[in-house]
Amino acid sequence: MSTITDEIKQLKKERNAVILAHYYVDPEVQDIADYIGDSYYLSKVAVELKEQTIVFCGVSFMGESAKILNPEKTVLMPDATADCPMAHMADRETIEKMREQYEDLAVVCYINSTAELKQYSDVCVTSANAVKIVKALPNKNIFFIPDKNLAHFIADQVPEKHFVYNEGFCPIHEKMMLEEVLEAKAQHPEALVLTHPECPKAILNVSDYIGSTSGIIDYAKNSACQEFIICTENGVRYKLEKENPEKQFYFTKTEPVCADMKKITLEKILHVLKTGENEVQISDTMRELSKKPLERMLELGK
Ligand code: 13P
Ligand code: SF4
Repeated sequence: MSTITDEIKQLKKERNAVILAHYYVDPEVQDIADYIGDSYYLSKVAVELKEQTIVFCGVSFMGESAKILNPEKTVLMPDATADCPMAHMADRETIEKMREQYEDLAVVCYINSTAELKQYSDVCVTSANAVKIVKALPNKNIFFIPDKNLAHFIADQVPEKHFVYNEGFCPIHEKMMLEEVLEAKAQHPEALVLTHPECPKAILNVSDYIGSTSGIIDYAKNSACQEFIICTENGVRYKLEKENPEKQFYFTKTEPVCADMKKITLEKILHVLKTGENEVQISDTMRELSKKPLERMLELGK
């Protein structure tokens, strides 16, 4: 009898499909993926694929970005309701107001945003390339949407720019508590603290390394240290432990879990491969406008 994994592999061949997955999805989904990575890696991979169909195991802004960059491809989302709440935490009115206020404004849009918001932005960034890209912009004034925590983290490293902040945040990282990080540090005094920049500043302040999910995974692999406190969503544990069986990884007592990322299951992957349901649709106008900031990111991020 064939397993669900065999069925997915067979259908993938028949449909000329490829599976992309973010590190926050469940281990069995990571195992079936052809490419696993952070948001930057996945958006770079998406433009190099030869397959006709992309099954995106992640949240909707990821599937949208893949579609915007590959309009001729079919992008399927295993769960159409898997969405990033932060992606909606900015608005057109405020962007327009800021543009009136600052003549040379660059609207820098975290990739964790809707295609609609990307339309009104000048460039996209991810946590892996944001500092490099903001530094490369000719503009002095930067309106960073939607994430306030990532914005502050970048602003600290690019003091020559003037930042205007937006009030968005990732509910999962924002909820993380400094007390719990300090508690973990007290329990594991030798451990290094590796943190995603979506966390509040108080946590960044006690961290030894701050970076994207791939950045955290690479840092842990290359470090001589044997123990780490990981301040990001608990999906990264799978790769960390797989790559470093001899090292110890600790999370805060309240483990950060992104319920939307966890909606992706093998059954749902199989279902969309069978039916072609949940295809990402973007209007031509929105695609044309939102493609520019994404392509600029890929260009400046090189
Ligand atoms: P990365 O770009 O670091 O993978 O982060 C994506 C994300 O959703 C973080 O919450
Ligand atoms: Fe969005 Fe946060 Fe989930 Fe990442 S972890 S997808 S930023 S809600």
